[in-house]
Amino acid sequence: MRAVWITRHGGPEVLEVREAPDPIPGPGEVRIRVRAAGLNFAEVMARQGLYPDAPRPPCVVGYEVAGVVDALGPGVERPAAGARVFALVHFGGHADAICVPAASAISIPEGATFEEAAALPVNYATAWLMLFRTASVRPGERVLVHMAAGGVGIAALQLLRTVPGAVAFGTASGSKHEAIRREGCAHPIDYRTRDYAAEIRALTGGEGVDVVLDPLGGRDWAKGYDLLREGGRLVAYGFANASGGPRRSWLRVLVQGVGIPRFDPLRLMARNRAVAGFNLGHLWRRPELVGGALEAVLALWREGRIAPRVDSTFPLERAAEAHRRIQERRNVGKVVLVP
Ligand SMILES: NC(=O)c1ccc[n+]([C@@H]2O[C@H](COP(=O)([O-])OP(=O)(O)OC[C@H]3O[C@@H](n4cnc5c(N)ncnc54)[C@H](OP(=O)(O)O)[C@@H]3O)[C@@H](O)[C@H]2O)c1
Repeated sequence: MRAVWITRHGGPEVLEVREAPDPIPGPGEVRIRVRAAGLNFAEVMARQGLYPDAPRPPCVVGYEVAGVVDALGPGVERPAAGARVFALVHFGGHADAICVPAASAISIPEGATFEEAAALPVNYATAWLMLFRTASVRPGERVLVHMAAGGVGIAALQLLRTVPGAVAFGTASGSKHEAIRREGCAHPIDYRTRDYAAEIRALTGGEGVDVVLDPLGGRDWAKGYDLLREGGRLVAYGFANASGGPRRSWLRVLVQGVGIPRFDPLRLMARNRAVAGFNLGHLWRRPELVGGALEAVLALWREGRIAPRVDSTFPLERAAEAHRRIQERRNVGKVVLVP
């Protein structure tokens, strides 16, 4: 098998494709011959040394794959060899083969491509659980989606379309506004040229929004909290602000760290606001939550109400370019590796 190794923390140049014997599926496992693997912002941060959950280098990351079952471990009958499946995996996905528990291999809907299937699990499970479990979005509510043109951002916009009357505000580079408008963003805001908080206050007559989904972190968590109207919920789910250039900068991490607000329960009570955190990677012991979310998004996909958007595809050998595409803020939707 071939896999993309993070040989040490650093810029995209630290990535290296290495060969190894194919993994053998153990009891209860199947081996997937990977045809497409999702690249997430977290994996870019893992390469930089900014993602504490990642294994220490040298390591292979990658949270999601789609491909064909090509070997069954002892005791496994389904999915059968030849089945087209996708799966969430706990690292190791950026490879052309991986073994997963048979129960976690989910059939790819007919007509869907491997690239689309690889673009689904992390982004849509994250967006679905945040919107419909953590924040319990209701019809007619206003939701601010940051990094709206990224993988999770577009998933959140598409899912919000299924909520009657929900109004999506989204931050993204100006060149991506037409694309996110088409995905359901009523108010795209170019955070690079304007103060998004001032813009939202102006658009809402000073009232603010009901829900903020914030993967930026640092001072943005304070800004998002201040934008909540009564009954509002802030969901913190990433710290993209810690990542600037290609390599880790401790100064940047420190500056952003100092900006993290402290929340006081008495003030939350007085102001009728809620602050929550979400981390899909820490839900491995609650498979029913993640499984329920995947079932729900699969149903919406089959009904044609959501559709994973693939930005670009790169062979494993060009994984560095894939990382750069995200880091240089050029993607609209999911970046996918195709072994
Ligand atoms: N907690 C969880 O379970 C969970 C799960 C998945 C993702 N996340 C988090 O959600 C966020 C989005 O992840 P994703 O995989 O959907 O992102 P993605 O598709 O890689 O999105 C990248 C886009 O984000 C924007 N961006 C904003 N700040 C950036 C920065 N400092 N560096 C580079 N790009 C930046 C850029 O778009 P513009 O040009 O429009 O700015 C860029 O094109 C990340 O913070 C990630 O860690 C959390």
